[in-house]
Amino acid sequence: MPARTPATAYMAVTRAQGELLFLLARAAGARRIVEFGCSFGVSTLYLTAAARDCRGSVVTSEMVPSKCRATEEALRRAGLASFATVLEGDACETLRDVEGPIDLVFLDGAKERYGPVFELLRPKLRPGALVVADNADMPQARGYVDRMRARDAGIVSVPLFAGRTLVSCLAT
Ligand SMILES: C[S@@+](CC[C@H](N)C(=O)[O-])C[C@H]1O[C@@H](n2cnc3c(N)ncnc32)[C@H](O)[C@@H]1O
Repeated sequence: MPARTPATAYMAVTRAQGELLFLLARAAGARRIVEFGCSFGVSTLYLTAAARDCRGSVVTSEMVPSKCRATEEALRRAGLASFATVLEGDACETLRDVEGPIDLVFLDGAKERYGPVFELLRPKLRPGALVVADNADMPQARGYVDRMRARDAGIVSVPLFAGRTLVSCLAT
């Protein structure tokens, strides 16, 4: 069996998580969605389908070039290519100039970067924006989860799927 490397590892959201992303984005009427870590684009397809329905778009990010190409191809095959942009490179750089106001963020890249990516995007998040984090139950995400669940943060957070997903809503 070939070794699992960052370029080949397939770590997509489950169908239930994908459907939740779609539902949240649709319910929020999300027109600007930002994703940290698209891998082969499974979550991107759910997010982009919702963005299309809301007459919006998705900006996603991925550091492995071959995965960027795979996501672009998946979007193309789904007829969604014109509703999403895949930015190649470290999201801490590529997402720096993303335009606001952002309605929904999905965090699914390196878990220890959830906090920095959230801080990078926070000035552009609209009041009441949703931030969804996958793998929130991993130790590397602990700092981010503690921050989002702190009482003084003005943010309401709910863990779902036995803590794997953390859905947060910013103050309105
Ligand atoms: C769990 S996978 C994403 C799965 C995808 N969201 C899905 O559900 O189909 C995490 C991805 O984030 C990428 N990644 C990790 N750190 C990153 C960074 N700093 N910038 C951009 N991409 C990153 C990895 O290469 C990997 O493909």
